[in-house]
Amino acid sequence: MKQEILTVISNIQLNSSTFEMKLSGVTEDMRPGQFVEVALKEKYLRRPISVADYENGVLTLLYKVVGSGTEIMSNIAPGEKLDVLTGLGNLFSIEKTEKPVLVGGGIGVAPLIGLSRAFYKKGIKPTVILGFRNKDEIFYLDEFEKVANVIVATDDGSFGIKGNAITALSSIEKPEFYYACGPMVMLKALSNYSLDGELSLEARMGCGFGACMGCSIKTTDGYKRVCKEGPVFMAKEIIYEN
Ligand SMILES: Cc1cc2nc3c(=O)[nH]c(=O)nc-3n(C[C@H](O)[C@H](O)[C@H](O)COP(=O)(O)OP(=O)(O)OC[C@H]3O[C@@H](n4cnc5c(N)ncnc54)[C@H](O)[C@@H]3O)c2cc1C
Ligand code: FES
Repeated sequence: MKQEILTVISNIQLNSSTFEMKLSGVTEDMRPGQFVEVALKEKYLRRPISVADYENGVLTLLYKVVGSGTEIMSNIAPGEKLDVLTGLGNLFSIEKTEKPVLVGGGIGVAPLIGLSRAFYKKGIKPTVILGFRNKDEIFYLDEFEKVANVIVATDDGSFGIKGNAITALSSIEKPEFYYACGPMVMLKALSNYSLDGELSLEARMGCGFGACMGCSIKTTDGYKRVCKEGPVFMAKEIIYEN
C-alpha cells in the first residue's frame, strides 16, 4: 500500500450516474482485483473504488454516484490532485483457466475491463457477461468488445438477452471457471451455482487496509477482511449470513 498524490487527467460522465476517472502519477504497480481508497474533501472516511485498469502510471476508475462522496468525485475537474491509497487488496488469479467467463452486474463490471485486457494480452479472448437493469445503464460495451466475446443481459430485455447474469451464464457451453463482481444478490446466486469461480466482494469499509476489522465477512475458514484477505475470494468459501 502506498499513499500517493495523483493528478486527475479526465473525469467523464458515461451515463446518468456512471463516470470514468483517469489519474496520472501512480507509482505502485496494480493488477485486476485490487482497489484504491480515495480521500475526498469533507469526508472523514476514504472511499474504496476498484482498479478498473492500470497502465503506464495511469489508473482508470469507473464509479457510480450513489451518495455524497461519489457526488463530490463526479465534480472533480481535470488538473485537480487527489490523495489516494494505491495497491490495496488481492488479485484475480488469471492462471486458473484458459476459458474464462467474466460476470459483471451494474457498476460491478468495473474491475472486469482490466481483467479482460489481462486475459487478452495473454492471448485468451474471454467471454464477458454484462448484466444491467436496462439499456440506459449500459456503459463500456465498446471497450469490452475490443477484447472479449460479450453477452449483455438486461432485466427488462431492453438490450441483449432478457434475464440476469445467471441466465446468461447457463447459456454458455461448458464453462470452466468464472470471475464475478456485482451486487450481493448476484454473487450469492453464483455461489449456489454448480460451477466454481472467484468473486470480488464489496463491504462497508473503515480503514481499508486491515486495521479495524470493519469489513470482516464469514467464510468456511473463519472471518476474513474484505480489504486485506480480499476483495477477491473463492465463491464456495463465502458464508452468507442472510
Ligand atoms: C473493494 C471495493 C471496491 C469498490 N469498487 C467500486 C467501483 O469500482 N466503483 C463504484 O462505483 N463503487 C465501488 N465500490 C463502492 C463504493 O466504495 C461506494 O459506492 C462508495 O464508497 C459510496 O460512497 P458515497 O459517499 O457516495 O455513498 P454513501 O453516502 O457512503 O452511501 C450511499 C449508499 O451506498 C451504499 N454503500 C456505500 N458504500 C457501500 C459499499 N462499500 N458496499 C455496499 N453499499 C455501499 C450505502 O449503504 C448507501 O445506501 C467499491 C467498494 C469496495 C468495498
Ligand atoms: S476496512 Fe478496516 S479492516 Fe477492512
